[in-house]
Amino acid sequence: MKVLVCGGAGYIGSHMVRRLIQDGVDTVVFDNLSTGHRESVGGASFVQGDLLASSQLRELLSQGRFDAVMHFCARSLVGESVQQPYAYYENNVVGTLNLLQAMREAGVGKLVFSSTAAVFGQPEADLIDEAHPTRPINPYGASKRMVETILEDAARAHGLRSVALRYFNAAGASPEGDIGESHSPETHLIPNMLRAANGDAPTLKVFGNDYATPDGTCVRDYVHVDDLADAHSRALDFMTSNDGAHAFNLGNGAGFSVMQMIDAAGQVAKRPIPFEIAPRRQGDPDRLVASSAKARRELGWQPRYTEIADIIETAWRWHRNPRY
Ligand code: UFG
Repeated sequence: MKVLVCGGAGYIGSHMVRRLIQDGVDTVVFDNLSTGHRESVGGASFVQGDLLASSQLRELLSQGRFDAVMHFCARSLVGESVQQPYAYYENNVVGTLNLLQAMREAGVGKLVFSSTAAVFGQPEADLIDEAHPTRPINPYGASKRMVETILEDAARAHGLRSVALRYFNAAGASPEGDIGESHSPETHLIPNMLRAANGDAPTLKVFGNDYATPDGTCVRDYVHVDDLADAHSRALDFMTSNDGAHAFNLGNGAGFSVMQMIDAAGQVAKRPIPFEIAPRRQGDPDRLVASSAKARRELGWQPRYTEIADIIETAWRWHRNPRY
């Protein structure tokens, strides 16, 4: 089996690359290193390139004899997407179209696509399953939903097999502590909490404490990055016997508020997380929690990290000694 991992040097992609290599899959990483890190993919075969430079991609795919593609490349910040919609549609939609066309020319017929909880927009249920309406409320979510639609059309027109995996909040790091989450600037809660605990970042700002949740802070569903990688491996197997375009929600099914996360992180780090209450961040829904019943049923997926402390512990190992 040979797999091209687009965006394999990013946070989730690098954990996927490690898993594929452990499974003995012939793995090639394609990444423009705009947010990814060359160090994060170790000895994997690496091609630096951009989905928007389609001739290079076409050549790689036409010569690579790949069985499938995993596609993690994206701009993924909600707030930034509101400020720079063209950049989001260009990278996330045009870039993916280039990839799909190159795959078609090369006869590569299977794709696992990184989608997001942001395709749902304002949540209308406590547990969001795949039947929940998809009405994205920002360009990031819209760009991912557009690609899902393109994949549905590609299945009908060209027989492309695909699985869109809608991550809720990706969290944690490799238990070995040698790869992990590293963004600049960092906007995500867990890295910001742990870096504040370390003294590597300023006091954590809690964005709003007047939401309609038990303690007023936003509730999210944190799922370990290695569990996400496991779902991708299962999605590859799934496409062997299932044609068409499929989508699965991936989360633990348990919600934690920002204040609960601060408590849990303080226990893991064995020191209090310095924080202050700040105004709401634009575009944050009160609560986003997944029902992953479909992934459990159809992919046989079962997250191994079910305790929030264990997820944070792996992130803490990384943030105490980040390599990049
Ligand atoms: N938060 C803080 N302080 C911080 C960082 C985050 O209070 O310094 C809060 C946020 O307001 C939010 C929660 O912590 O309530 C989690 O925030 P993250 O930035 O870690 O993650 P998001 O929930 O914003 O992002 C997730 C997915 C996105 C998806 C988005 C949809 O990572 O892919 O949900 O709303 F688009």
